Amino acid sequence: MLTREQALEAVGSVTEAYSADAVQFRDVVVKDRQVSLTVVLASAETKPALESALREALTQAGAEAVHFRFREAQPAPSANAAQGSGAGAATSAANKQSAAEAAPVQGHGAGLSSSLLDPASKVEFIAVASGKGGVGKSTVTVNLAVALARKGKRVGIMDADIYGFSVPDMMGIESRPELVNDRVIPIERFGVKVISMGFFVEDNSPIVWRGPMLGKMLRNFFSEIEWGELDYLLLDLPPGTGDVALDVHQIIPQSKEIIVTTPHATAAFVAARAGAMAIKTNHEIIGVVENMAYYKCSKCGEPEYIFGRGGGAKLAESLHADLLAQIPLGQPDNHISEPDFSPSVYKAESETGQLYLELADRVIDQCGK
Ligand SMILES: Nc1ncnc2c1ncn2[C@@H]1O[C@H](COP(=O)(O)OP(=O)(O)OP(=O)(O)O)[C@@H](O)[C@H]1O
Ligand SMILES: [Mg+2]
Repeated sequence: MLTREQALEAVGSVTEAYSADAVQFRDVVVKDRQVSLTVVLASAETKPALESALREALTQAGAEAVHFRFREAQPAPSANAAQGSGAGAATSAANKQSAAEAAPVQGHGAGLSSSLLDPASKVEFIAVASGKGGVGKSTVTVNLAVALARKGKRVGIMDADIYGFSVPDMMGIESRPELVNDRVIPIERFGVKVISMGFFVEDNSPIVWRGPMLGKMLRNFFSEIEWGELDYLLLDLPPGTGDVALDVHQIIPQSKEIIVTTPHATAAFVAARAGAMAIKTNHEIIGVVENMAYYKCSKCGEPEYIFGRGGGAKLAESLHADLLAQIPLGQPDNHISEPDFSPSVYKAESETGQLYLELADRVIDQCGK
């Protein structure tokens, strides 16, 4: 069996000749002789030679597969460079990020103070993923979270889509989090605690960070946020199997996953890649949600399969997981004049709201809570 210490020793032997600034390792995870790690380099020129030397050393130490992620060390951006996020909590987040940049992080979870990530923490992490964009990850995350809260659970949402955040808008959140004792207090809406990059960006300006900043912001979302006690923390992932998805896999190896797809065969095919990534990184797949599964004709009440049929079931079968829910097409029946208005949260008594409550039951069953 290959231990994390042995893997660290192997990579350390390769980098002995380099200065501490030239190469750093992060998020070293070893599971079943599979090693994944992030290598932060001062200069990209060293990458080819280092990669083969590291691979060889790890293989000799007993690794069967090695997944590298190379990153170039970035100078920390100023608060202004962080898209003029500027005020309050955003400045705090950006400043702390600089501190995180300066401190070499050794291995998974290092430097994180959040009790949420303590092995003793009882919180159930559920990442909502899909290979494809626009299939409804955020909608499913938000409505599942609200449904779990309606079932009496203590729930949080981490909008891990740092570039493409949408959760605050979908939930109709207009306020910004407050800082108490230097900790950010998540916004509570429909009984769900929410944190999103959207809270720290002015005027919907785009975020133009490089990959490493995304991982750091995610870490800040654990270490700087006063989550309190939670039963479930849902993570709304960006589409695909890129940096953030990998960061989540590495920061929260115990996270479970829900894969969202539409019924179209292509969507299911692409979503399968997110599923494969979950399997590769030993994230348990709770199941598949087929969104936009059908449209219920308002006249005859019969379902019409506008986006095709069967993608969710096929994906669930290929991932050996359950098809947890089939959510129809249709916007929530919400009006902006209502005090509790939100663009994307279905009312509990609506047909789709009921389907989300059933989905919550199935998730609670699967998680044994
Ligand atoms: N069941 C549904 N019926 C009608 N519209 C829906 C449904 N689910 C999602 N939508 C709409 O489809 C669009 C995409 O949904 P959403 O943002 O949840 O997808 P996503 O997978 O999170 O996208 P991205 O990959 O960009 O993060 C949104 O405008 C949303 O309101
Ligand atoms: Mg989204």
